Amino acid sequence: MSALPKYQEIYRRFRLAIDQGQFGPGDRVPSVRSLALELKVARGTVETAYQLLVSEGFFEARGQAGTVIAASLPTVSVKPLPVVEPVVRSPLALQMGLPALDAFPRKLWARLVTQQVRRTDADSLAMGDVRGAQALRVAIANYLALYRGVQCAPQQVFVCAGYAGCLTLLCDALQMAGQRCWFEDPGYLHGRQLLTHCGVELVPVPVDRDGLDVAQGIRRDMQARLAVVTPAHQSPLGVALSRERRQALLAWAGEQGSWVVEDDYDSEFRYRGQPLAALKSQDHDDRVIHAGSFSKMLFPGLRLGYLVVPTALVATFERSAQALQQRSAQLLQLTTADFLEQGHFTRHLKKMRQLYAQRHGLLVNALAVHCAGLLRVDEQAGGINLLVRLEVAVSDQAVAEAASAAGLAVQALSVWTLGAHREQGLLMGFTNVATAQQASELALLLRGVIESSSFCDRQVL
Ligand SMILES: Cc1ncc(COP(=O)(O)O)c(C=O)c1O
Repeated sequence: MSALPKYQEIYRRFRLAIDQGQFGPGDRVPSVRSLALELKVARGTVETAYQLLVSEGFFEARGQAGTVIAASLPTVSVKPLPVVEPVVRSPLALQMGLPALDAFPRKLWARLVTQQVRRTDADSLAMGDVRGAQALRVAIANYLALYRGVQCAPQQVFVCAGYAGCLTLLCDALQMAGQRCWFEDPGYLHGRQLLTHCGVELVPVPVDRDGLDVAQGIRRDMQARLAVVTPAHQSPLGVALSRERRQALLAWAGEQGSWVVEDDYDSEFRYRGQPLAALKSQDHDDRVIHAGSFSKMLFPGLRLGYLVVPTALVATFERSAQALQQRSAQLLQLTTADFLEQGHFTRHLKKMRQLYAQRHGLLVNALAVHCAGLLRVDEQAGGINLLVRLEVAVSDQAVAEAASAAGLAVQALSVWTLGAHREQGLLMGFTNVATAQQASELALLLRGVIESSSFCDRQVL
């Protein structure tokens, strides 16, 4: 309670709640006895507050029926609380990084959640293991062994709140604040922001057709403690890290005693050619920390990801996990474990690969028809985003801003770049473009946006 006399504090709380609309005319308020018990104050204190509210016309005492908020309230008001803007991340047209939200098997998921709830015993209502639910750690280790060629024991698996949670745990465990880390340039914007927030000093390392340029990394900072890479499908350029570069990266980490984070966020979505092996599967010196996320493979609202840490780091990560105490909800972890173990996961991924190949085609065709001469789609073998290069003299940020005003969530590639040479392009998601008609409408909208932005840019010049 505040420094106000107790009865005044109670009076003030009700006045604010009425002002904010939390209580409306006719709503019952707690009985004097129960509120006094709850707040651990004398009954007389609550009675005094209630009497004041009745006398001012905010409450109506109805004898046996209890006390209610008055049918017509006085117009005077207390200072309202500031309205907090909700941070909404609802899907927008062409929003990047989202799986097909309409195609997630929600009924099946609901059934699995219900089964888990029915199985809930008293023990499973407790906090759970800070490293993640054992069933999920086992299911992840089994999946990785079979589908990503990564051999690990469940003790090496740490379940986190998405990749973002993985990076937070990793920064704490490796004490990365003030340490240097190679970061792909261009590279995953949110990863970059999070690492910077954790005090990590990022060393931008260029990416070319073969992925991260390891020789450049060594030239720029041979002794960096960490390298964060997306080997299967570079974010955002979509290239794969070549065999030679993989070997060079692992050799560098082994020689320097540095660590490599493999962000394997969407390796499952490859539409042509062989699936690429995980870097971790080639990591004979145990220098790679493999990171995965269920955000793309299931849905981002689940907030589940995982790290596979080298055996030598398990105890360190356990200590950090204990210190941070960032558990994910048990129910969802166990449901995800069932989803994996019962084979739904691989079936779902197979379906999504087919669907994404089709939706990718819808958007690429629509852009070719409606945006010819304005943009060109970069060829990529997989992933769930599209990178297009602008063929007119206009800045990608000007287009992204205008697109946002038109309701299109395309992003400017230059914002994802750290170094002096800012690559231009537009990034967009195609997984939620469900029909040819929708694809055409979006492409036409984008055409209008690019045309008007290039016109405005010319005016400024
Ligand atoms: C490169 C990259 N890594 C990881 C992730 C997954 O992030 P999270 O698990 O925090 O949703 C994403 C999602 O967009 C991504 O683009």
